Amino acid sequence: MKQSIDEHAARFDEKAADYDDDATPEYRACADLVVQHAAPGPTDTVLDLGTGTGAIALALAPDAGRVVGRDISEGMLQQAREKAADAGLGNVEFGEGRFRAPNVDGSGVDIVTSNFAMHHLSDDEKREAIDTIAALEPRRFVLGDVLFFGEPDPDEPFYTPEVDDPATVGVLADALTDAGFALTAVELVHEQVGVLVAERGTPAVDGSTDES
Ligand SMILES: C[S@@+](CC[C@H](N)C(=O)[O-])C[C@H]1O[C@@H](n2cnc3c(N)ncnc32)[C@H](O)[C@@H]1O
Repeated sequence: MKQSIDEHAARFDEKAADYDDDATPEYRACADLVVQHAAPGPTDTVLDLGTGTGAIALALAPDAGRVVGRDISEGMLQQAREKAADAGLGNVEFGEGRFRAPNVDGSGVDIVTSNFAMHHLSDDEKREAIDTIAALEPRRFVLGDVLFFGEPDPDEPFYTPEVDDPATVGVLADALTDAGFALTAVELVHEQVGVLVAERGTPAVDGSTDES
């Protein structure tokens, strides 16, 4: 991580009030794909990590049983809470939590989502975060982010080298499969923006994995 958690949190606290006004078309396309692939059902609990002002959490709440949004920036979380109240959504809850310490009761997390947030972590930290997510045993993890399909180009607009640390698709695919996920979809939005969908089979009684 190129900045500490506290520095990232302070940076997003400052941006919080205007964050929703700055969306690029690629960000919107990525967020739409995360929502589409997450596809929760009415009994599902969704954990949205790096939830920010709640773009993903609030979009999923009408279809999910419960949505839990976690972030390090109280300013971003406050915006999310106000939007949930304005929309009359009673099944979504926002609070402090981080990729490697999500601050949730893992027993009931069915789907984990994250959009435009994990690229703040170093590759080793992303691997730890993916292992933490896998330990919650969701059936699906949908990761939309700034990531590299090709050679990293610092002149492109989607990341700021001083604060961001995007991974290649290969690094993320390795970390996800090492953590026991199967990669079931890869969506390219831009050479530096994409969505990875990772799923786990249902453990069968004999301990093998039933993918049916
Ligand atoms: C660019 S915003 C994306 C917010 C939201 N997911 C969206 O799609 O609009 C990135 C968010 O990640 C949060 N963040 C950064 N590092 C984090 C960490 N280690 N754990 C949890 N959240 C983090 C920031 O506070 C910020 O709210």
